[in-house]
Amino acid sequence: MSGKLLEMKGVTKRFPGVYALKGVDFELEIGEVHALLGENGAGKSTLMKILNGIYSIDEGNIFINRNEVQIHGVKDAQKYGISIIHQEISLVPYLSIAENIYLGRESVTKTGFIDQKTMYENAQKLLNDFDLGLSADTTVNKLNVAQQQMIEIIKAVSFHSKIIVMDEPTSSLTEKEVDFLFKTIRNLKEQGVGIVYISHRMNELFEITDRITVMRDGTYIGTVITKDTTNEKLISMMVGRELTNYYVRDFSVSDECVLKVSNLTKKGVIENTSFELRKGEILGFSGLVGAGRSELMKCIFGLDSFEQGEIFVKGNKVTIKNPNDAIKNKIAYVTENRKEEGLFLIQSVQYNVTIKILDEFMKFFRVNSKVENMETNNYIKELSIKTPSPNQEVKNLSGGNQQKVLISRWLATKPQVLILDEPTRGVDVGAKAEIYSIMNQLVKEGVSIIMISSELPEVINMSDRVAVMCKGKIQKILTKDSFNQETIMHYATGGN
Ligand SMILES: Nc1ncnc2c1ncn2[C@@H]1O[C@H](COP(=O)(O)OP(=O)(O)OP(=O)(O)O)[C@@H](O)[C@H]1O
Ligand SMILES: [Mg+2]
Repeated sequence: MSGKLLEMKGVTKRFPGVYALKGVDFELEIGEVHALLGENGAGKSTLMKILNGIYSIDEGNIFINRNEVQIHGVKDAQKYGISIIHQEISLVPYLSIAENIYLGRESVTKTGFIDQKTMYENAQKLLNDFDLGLSADTTVNKLNVAQQQMIEIIKAVSFHSKIIVMDEPTSSLTEKEVDFLFKTIRNLKEQGVGIVYISHRMNELFEITDRITVMRDGTYIGTVITKDTTNEKLISMMVGRELTNYYVRDFSVSDECVLKVSNLTKKGVIENTSFELRKGEILGFSGLVGAGRSELMKCIFGLDSFEQGEIFVKGNKVTIKNPNDAIKNKIAYVTENRKEEGLFLIQSVQYNVTIKILDEFMKFFRVNSKVENMETNNYIKELSIKTPSPNQEVKNLSGGNQQKVLISRWLATKPQVLILDEPTRGVDVGAKAEIYSIMNQLVKEGVSIIMISSELPEVINMSDRVAVMCKGKIQKILTKDSFNQETIMHYATGGN
């Protein structure tokens, strides 16, 4: 199948203080998977939000099947058969799976009531087609991030769209779920659906896409045929320079134990788990989604209670009943779910960076905003946060830049133990390299890091040791000389 399904020409979009898009071109063929690639803040999501009627277009034209169209809202986009799976999950947490899938288009009985039965039946059929083992009446807040992501995907598919935009659909999926998604994509492709695929994971692009369009700083850089290009070529198009030394790590750990967890048990979640973290160490936590990694960290950080077990900081037993206790013990936790558990989206970058350390700027009960401002600017510079000013609302930053704001907040507390939960999720290659180099710098200064990550190359290249979890237990702690992709997967799937 071929033929032009979509064409976007000279698309321009301004936001107060930022030129998000400057004359960007993009096209999509029938049955094509076309990637949009670019660093955080390049404008990928903005371009797709224009296509989906979420943002209005300032300049430029959109053609569908060679006819020019005006898209003035989400309903218009649906009319033209366009749907989007958003980068940030946008399901309604207290509604059921079925209600979320059919939100706003519920089928109605003859008497005008919502036809619950049909809705639940249809939703259940979709869930079964996708082999998810979920019931349509489960409320969404009971699902983990990966499951929610799959519901977003099912929802988009259920519209029978001609064009489906997937904005970082795999950022919280495991390899198995990614395989499954790719099967779905190949299916849709055969039916002639065009897919716009946004991801920072280069290996995925090589696996699933036909063409790749690269953007940088709101401009169109070029389009290449996937099978004719290379990783290096794409990276240099993306960042405008060659990127060497991706993983930066100077290995030198002391024997000093800074954090010790003994026999921690939380019924049905964590089972009798013990480990030690040494000064200046990066201890990777690997495992499949649902293995209990985040749950364990939440117990240590006081976000969750547990029945049994002890925590020692520098040899002293501590009681951590809430995050404040953890912060007092110089423990910091950057959560995986930045939207729900981390950022204050309608507040400024500055507010988000300094919220945990405001007392430091207090003088006679007034915040010294000049110092606060300097501190924020330091982080903006050190982590290259792309924002017009410290006063920009965080919701207006791109996904990866939001992640950097969250990391800054915790760095500002000057922690001794820094727990990073999927620190580079949704972060582009350039920013990833920056985050790795920041991690390396921190451990050199004596900070100890626990890094939960589902990206094996990152775990393998950055960690001193790797704890592999499976079903609520640490299955094995591997040392540098004994870990590789295969051994980690072996223990993660329950091997001995
Ligand atoms: N509603 C908004 N108001 C103001 N600025 C915005 C808004 N939405 C996006 N921007 C800005 O537009 C630029 C492009 O952002 P966009 O989210 O499209 O980037 P992206 O390529 O999707 O990045 P990422 O890979 O991090 O998701 C950024 O500088 C961002 O801060
Ligand atoms: Mg984006």
